[in-house]
Amino acid sequence: GIRLFNKIADFRAWRRQLLLDRQTLGYVPTMGALHQGHLALVTSAKNKCDNVALTIFVNPAQFSPTEDLSTYPRTLQGDLDKLAALGPGVASAVLVPTVQEMYPGGIELDVSKQKGAFVEVKGLSHQLEGVTRPHFFRGVATVVSKFLNIVQPEEVFFGQKDVQQCSVIKTMIRDLHFPIKMNICPTVREDDGLAMSSRNAYLTVDQRRHALVVHNALSSIESLYRNGERHAPTLIQAGIDIIERERQQVEKNSNLDWDIKLDYLNINSPEDLSELSGEINNEDGCIVSTAVFVGKTRLIDNLLLDVK
Ligand code: PAJ
Repeated sequence: GIRLFNKIADFRAWRRQLLLDRQTLGYVPTMGALHQGHLALVTSAKNKCDNVALTIFVNPAQFSPTEDLSTYPRTLQGDLDKLAALGPGVASAVLVPTVQEMYPGGIELDVSKQKGAFVEVKGLSHQLEGVTRPHFFRGVATVVSKFLNIVQPEEVFFGQKDVQQCSVIKTMIRDLHFPIKMNICPTVREDDGLAMSSRNAYLTVDQRRHALVVHNALSSIESLYRNGERHAPTLIQAGIDIIERERQQVEKNSNLDWDIKLDYLNINSPEDLSELSGEINNEDGCIVSTAVFVGKTRLIDNLLLDVK
C-alpha cells in the first residue's frame, strides 16, 4: 500500500532507504483535492522513476489574508483512495506535514509580520499572477524549496496549467543549484475543455457553465494564430470579444447572472515573461495566459504557441 507520513523525519528515513537500495524518486508537490491533473503528474513520474512521492500541504505562505486558505478543499481520504486506484506501486508515499513542522517559527499571512527564511525569484513573480497576488510566488518558491530539501527527489513534476509557477520554479532550481530535474506535464482538461482545478469545486452549476468561456477565448486565439495572425493586441482583443459575446448571449437567452470578470488576458515571452505588444515571431513563440473571476472563484488557464 501507499506509505502515509505526517512527520518529516519518518519520511526522510523512508527516502534514505531508497537511496541505499539505489532506487530513484520522482516527486509531485500538491495542495491536495486531487483530480486527474494531479494524477497525470503521478503517472508521468512513475514512468520515469522507480518510486513516486507526493506531498499534500495547503501552504499558508502562498495565500493572502483575503484569500481562501480556510475554505480550500481538504479531502485527504479521497485523495489517498484516488492514488491507490492508480494501481499498486504507482504512488509509493505521501507526506502530509503539519504547518507547525513546515514553518517552525510560525507563519503570518500578513507579509509585514513574517519572520524567518523565504525564497524569492525576482523578475518572474511580479507580472501576470503577481499583479493580483503580489506575494504568491514567494510563498510557492519558499514551500517548494523546503520540500525539495526534505524529499530530495531526482526529478520533480509540475503542471503546465500553472505556467508562471513553472517558470518561477525552473529558475529557482537553476539559481539555487537543486540537483533535480524539472518536468512539465500538459494541462489536463474536462471533456468540454475546462482546465481541471481543485478550485472548480467552488463553482455552482451555472458558474461552471459560464467558466467555459475561459477555454473558448483561448481556443479562438489559438485558431487565429494558426491562421497566421501574429499581432499580439489583435489576438488579445479577439479573446476579449469572445468573452463579451458570450456575456451578451447569456443575458439575452436566460435570466442568469453573468458572474464572470476578466482579471487579465496577456501574451508574454516564454523566455522572461515580458509582455509582447507587437508581432509574435515563430522562433520564440509566446504564452497566452488568462485569469478570470467566476463569482469569487479565481480561475487561470493558458496556451503555449510555438514554444519549443
Ligand atoms: P496544486 O494547485 O495542488 O497543483 C499541484 C500540481 O498539479 C501543480 O504542478 C499544478 O500545476 C498541477 N496541476 C493542477 N491542475 C492541473 C491540470 N489541470 N493539469 C495538469 N496539471 C495540473 O500548484 C500547487 O498546488 C502549489 O502551488 C504547490 C506547487 C503544491 C506549492 O504549494
